[in-house]
Amino acid sequence: MQDLLDKRIVLGLSGGIACYKAADLVRRLIERGAQVDVVMTEAATRFITPVTMQALSGRPVFVDAWDNRVHNNMAHIQLSRGADAILIAPASADFMAKLVQGRADDLLSTLCLARACPLLVAPAMNREMWLAAPTQRNVAQLTQDGIEIFGPGSGEQACGETGDGRMLEPLQIVAELKRFFQPKLLAGLRVLLTAGPTVEPIDPVRVLSNRSSGKTGYALAEAAWEAGASVTLISGPTSLPCPFGVTRLNVDTAQQMRDVVMSHLSGQDIFIAVAAVADWRIQNISSEKIKKDGTSTPELNFVANPDILAEVAAQQTGPWCVGFAAETENLSEFAHAKRLRKGIPMLIGNLAQHVMDADHTTVTIFDDQGEHVLPKETKQEVARQLIHAIAERFKQSKPSR
Ligand code: CTP
Repeated sequence: MQDLLDKRIVLGLSGGIACYKAADLVRRLIERGAQVDVVMTEAATRFITPVTMQALSGRPVFVDAWDNRVHNNMAHIQLSRGADAILIAPASADFMAKLVQGRADDLLSTLCLARACPLLVAPAMNREMWLAAPTQRNVAQLTQDGIEIFGPGSGEQACGETGDGRMLEPLQIVAELKRFFQPKLLAGLRVLLTAGPTVEPIDPVRVLSNRSSGKTGYALAEAAWEAGASVTLISGPTSLPCPFGVTRLNVDTAQQMRDVVMSHLSGQDIFIAVAAVADWRIQNISSEKIKKDGTSTPELNFVANPDILAEVAAQQTGPWCVGFAAETENLSEFAHAKRLRKGIPMLIGNLAQHVMDADHTTVTIFDDQGEHVLPKETKQEVARQLIHAIAERFKQSKPSR
């Protein structure tokens, strides 16, 4: 997925054991289409060699401020010009202190001081170093200076201790970087989503479910986080990993999904119902596994499940609601009717046969202005466009925001 296509990233490594993760980070950035120029401190070269970083990035690696491979000996200027961001990963406690003081005694620190692009920092250190008062003061100062801090993560450390200070994993840094480049259309807002299928038990070993993969809902949750929202995702069973930055709550049945949604509704600004909720559940669930008797087939009695979206939309002071409709025919007619029936301002419709388990999708937005078709794209790109459309309509509905 080329979602960092044409981005030019200067990746700076300062000295720390997390340098080993920087090798994988370069690969992850390149496979997403970024061009990566690696700059290392002398200390970083003790942990991983410039040769490794050069082989992975496919570009010359710089360490020395006096390197004359760059025109006019101006590596500290040339490397950052035209870059979309400088990312320091790992950033040691010492390197962050240097950034705070504006010191420029090697190529990487000089490059940071002379930059004309955003600076992003992924700290990596022992937990006591992270918690130390000078480090915390430096982090606060860097934030005040407009420098983005990615992480750190928490967990087991190379020194054998456990706590905060680990560098984020490469894919988590990639997620933060992608987020950094997205406009913050939902900054300060809280978004609640449902996604995936629900499963309704028949007996202790059998269930009724549907073919929803959850991909669209997960992509929307990720896009909402990238747009600056605080995101809670209530998900039926899927094989998807929880998007970084998103809080996921797992449920099985429609009733559980309804209960978890209702208990998390307070304070939410936007509710996006993407889940393929089972319309019915089985009333006569067997407490034992139903056995074949060779002649008859089991009789299942169905009872209607709660309509979660309609219930949320009916709340007096509830969030602004967005629904989804996967139809197999008559999309326009059914979607318009469904939007009005559920009492929601926006409904996103698609043809089920085009989207179930697919990575690409095409959708139509239905609102009080009519309908608007979005072009076929990856679910991630469609999700970003939908978040754009949702943010626009939400803000129109609440002009003070
Ligand atoms: N939805 C919901 N709770 C339900 C059923 C649906 O919250 N019990 C939500 C879905 O998440 C989706 C929208 O309502 O956002 C429409 O879902 P869909 O299954 O297409 O609509 P239904 O109301 O179930 O209508 P039908 O199955 O007859 O098409």
